[in-house]
Amino acid sequence: MARVTTLELKRKKEAGEPITMLTAYDYPFAQMVDEAGVDIILVGDSLGMVVLGYDSTLPVTQEDMLRHTAAVARGTKRAMVVADMPFMTYQVSPEQALENAGQLVKEAGAHAVKLEGGDPVLETIRKMVDAGIPVMGHLGLTPQSIHKLGGYRVQGREKETAERLKREAKALEEAGCFSIVLEAIPSWLAKEVTEVVSIPTIGIGAGPHCDGQVLVLHDVLGIFQEFKPKFVKRYANLREEILKALKEYVREVREGEFPTPEYSYE
Ligand code: KIV
Repeated sequence: MARVTTLELKRKKEAGEPITMLTAYDYPFAQMVDEAGVDIILVGDSLGMVVLGYDSTLPVTQEDMLRHTAAVARGTKRAMVVADMPFMTYQVSPEQALENAGQLVKEAGAHAVKLEGGDPVLETIRKMVDAGIPVMGHLGLTPQSIHKLGGYRVQGREKETAERLKREAKALEEAGCFSIVLEAIPSWLAKEVTEVVSIPTIGIGAGPHCDGQVLVLHDVLGIFQEFKPKFVKRYANLREEILKALKEYVREVREGEFPTPEYSYE
């Protein structure tokens, strides 16, 4: 089975074939997401919130990403694996950023890295791409800047921020990004960005005009239910299903119904 590559993603954009992307953070879920035919698996730093229990993505470390990316890489055969670069692993200097990106590819098995922002990260992106590391950009609502943005809110509604976002998308393309995530921006703006760049845009809360869509796996499956942004569609309610199974186990053990001889050795 051929691995999805940056060239295949570009071909999909040109052919008008929607690109599918989901997050995953461990081996069993990576296997299922891969088997479902998803093109790109993002080992997102949303890991911090939906798996590690933090209230933002900021505390996620390089070590967290290395461990979870390696588990996801082991679970995939076809999907491209993109590792998110955690907060403060790429902002200090392009040299340090390159070392950290290199580690995610070389040690953890990522096929590409993703980092947030526009103008401030252009030099860093050029360095990574020159070193042979594919980079996915991320514009709009960039959760690592949550304190600066003042909350998880739609970006780019004002003319000035919309213009800046379009200019930065073009700049990311020129710096060598193979794709850009657009998060929580109006559909009309995502459409304009998608038309001005020749690399694929992947939307999350950015409407139907992007070249692809991404959601957080634990939102899609209804495992994470602490809050639900407007753009999240739940395709299952696994939290309820899992709770049902666990409560049944607890009841059976307490009432002596498990284990029966079927589950015991003579
Ligand atoms: O960390 C993440 O899951 C992400 C997606 C929301 C795109 O960056």
